[in-house]
Amino acid sequence: MADKVTVAVARKPEAIGREVILQGWVRTRRDSKGGFSFIELNDGSCLGNIQIIADQSLPNYETEIRHLGTGCSIRVEGVVKASPGTKQPTEVEARQIQVLGWADPETYPLQKKHHSFEFLRTIAHLRSRTNTFGAMARVRNCVSMAIHEFFQSEGFLYVHTPIITPSDCEGAGALFQVTTLNLAAVPKRDGVVDYSQDFFQRPTYLTVSGQLEAEALACGLGKVYTFGPTFRAENSNTTRHLAEFWMVEPEAAFFELEDNMDLAERFLKHIFRRVLERCEEDMRFFQERIDPQCIENLTHVIEQPFERISYTEAIEILSRADKEFEFPPAWGKDLQSEHERYLTEEYCRKPVIVFDYPKTIKPFYMRVNDDGRTVRAMDVLVPKVGEIIGGSQREERLDVLLERMAEQGLKTENYWWYLELRRFGTVPHSGFGLGLERTLQFVTGMGNIRDVIPFPRTPGNAEF
Ligand code: 4AD
Ligand code: MG
Repeated sequence: MADKVTVAVARKPEAIGREVILQGWVRTRRDSKGGFSFIELNDGSCLGNIQIIADQSLPNYETEIRHLGTGCSIRVEGVVKASPGTKQPTEVEARQIQVLGWADPETYPLQKKHHSFEFLRTIAHLRSRTNTFGAMARVRNCVSMAIHEFFQSEGFLYVHTPIITPSDCEGAGALFQVTTLNLAAVPKRDGVVDYSQDFFQRPTYLTVSGQLEAEALACGLGKVYTFGPTFRAENSNTTRHLAEFWMVEPEAAFFELEDNMDLAERFLKHIFRRVLERCEEDMRFFQERIDPQCIENLTHVIEQPFERISYTEAIEILSRADKEFEFPPAWGKDLQSEHERYLTEEYCRKPVIVFDYPKTIKPFYMRVNDDGRTVRAMDVLVPKVGEIIGGSQREERLDVLLERMAEQGLKTENYWWYLELRRFGTVPHSGFGLGLERTLQFVTGMGNIRDVIPFPRTPGNAEF
């Protein structure tokens, strides 16, 4: 009896001699003069294809097999043999080939060997059949597993925070509203929208971060993390912004900023180590096709301690730099991506954690330092991508938090439960958020964030 196996399994030398059933998509077919055909088959289980040898004695050789082309789906039953070629250890001698689905070569969009990433974005439903997006999906899977593994091994509980929320965690106002009101006839009372008729009887939004709820859970459970989709309605058409992206957010009670920085550094190194261990073939592909430095970068990052500099030091370094910035660095102004990249790519040449930012440019929840001007914020910056982690120690003192909310014009009644965490048994605590897609950009060297998520959402773009 033949076993159903993946191409990844059948490509291993241990598979030699096994009777197998393989199912996948034809990459290419070539006919030999000797009366047989070679079919390169891929099923997404690994980057490499497996070569299928189809002999003319197969009953459907002339009628079907010789008409197979790129994109057709087939089921192959056969025996794994040692391959005489050097490219792969094994090949499969077919006993039976069944065509599951044809793909008309005139209209199948993935006919050519090389397509631009721009073009592939217009066929996101098919691009998982390409080498790049297959490799990306496998690395994304590996990173996601490594994230869970890391926090589980560090004693963090995986918790689930809501997607629909009434509050704007980052206070940036970049929210997608969630409503069941009829937009063609919005009910109003005294000229303003009557939310008592909306589904939740109040305005609600897609979450920009699970942090506030994660804080509530950490202040009871100790160490927790969330890992889910987050949404930002910023109109930023850059290579590093998505309207829907995945964020991992650990939150830990009794953690101060130093503990938080240590955690972030251990965390990133763990992820990169796992990718190097488990995605060798895919990473070699990214090295050859996308970024010759990507493997070396990861190795370098794993081996070196991250640099840690305060925001004030960062501004001094930038002001001294022999470099023309589009935005001149100045204390009190946010770091632009050109500044972040100078610090990590040129000045430190490795990941940098910048901490203690001015309070005026950071959200209300960050803990105010004794200087009264800065907050216990931390951003982790990496070469090429810039910020991949943003986090802080949280303000646990009720009076200071109330003052900060007043400064930023936030309505305390919307945050009553968040304030109660400070009113009842408050504790020092900290956390951060890692953007999954930016991490993947750093790992693979992929230039555009739209190419590290299967179905990207950006302004004007939600086709699939
Ligand atoms: O720095 P951010 O905005 O921090 C927070 O949301 C905190 N509440 C997290 C926390 O402390 N629990 O976002 C965190 C990370 C960024 O460093 C970046 O990697 C990613 O999320 N990110 C984005 N990734 C893709 N597209 C966007 N529009 C992103 N905005 C943030
Ligand atoms: Mg940030």
